[in-house]
Amino acid sequence: MANEAADAQAYPMRGVPQPAREQTLALPQVHISRHPVIAHKMTLLRDKRTPPPAFYRTVRELGALLAYESTADLKLEPVRIETPIEPMTGSELAGGVGIVPILRAGLGLAEGFREVLPDASIWHLGLRRDERTLEPIEYYNQLARSSNLQVCFSVDPMLATGGSAIDALNILKRYGVPHLRYVALIGAPYGLLKLRQAHPDVPIYLAALDDRLDDRGFICPGLGDAGDRQFGTL
Ligand code: PRP
Repeated sequence: MANEAADAQAYPMRGVPQPAREQTLALPQVHISRHPVIAHKMTLLRDKRTPPPAFYRTVRELGALLAYESTADLKLEPVRIETPIEPMTGSELAGGVGIVPILRAGLGLAEGFREVLPDASIWHLGLRRDERTLEPIEYYNQLARSSNLQVCFSVDPMLATGGSAIDALNILKRYGVPHLRYVALIGAPYGLLKLRQAHPDVPIYLAALDDRLDDRGFICPGLGDAGDRQFGTL
């Protein structure tokens, strides 16, 4: 009996049914990148030989690329400017942009987003996944109420069981943050389906959708622990 309890703690996904990848590919408002540069950089991340400095740099670069993909439909408004030659009507983003990195692994992605969107506001949210229960635990919250946003991105590299993503979006909605989008590097079909069901109104952007979760709740083939690999705490 004691052994069974210890096993359940060590392997919380053991015996839990998971949807097949193909079943989740066509879920509404799910964008999985087809960009060759993103695929190339994802392979660098997945490679276990990639050391933390290169890993962090690549997460940042992928953040910038995903920012580019996930902002393609943002609204613009006209703005009058003068070029060195003559006046013209240009365009600027209508309303502000918010970025919420889910600590700590979301920091590198948020940095990449910031390179593309330097005027964005960054609100940090600390969630840590209890590795035995897989339940997210909130330990830091720097959110502020802000409604003058065209869009707010919740960014976190890994969508595994979906618990952290669902919690983060619940918290953001409680704060009244409008126009949410969720961005991750890798999703597992299980977490993707859970997130789609919990927050059907939130568009999801992924660099890749993997096969499954292992018994410990790690994404397979995945890339290991994105937080530890970014910050050299393996
Ligand atoms: C990882 C990851 C997500 C979460 C995903 O964070 O960055 O936040 O787990 O798992 P879930 O979908 O099952 O909730 P972790 O708890 O390892 O914290 P860290 O960012 O501090 O490394």
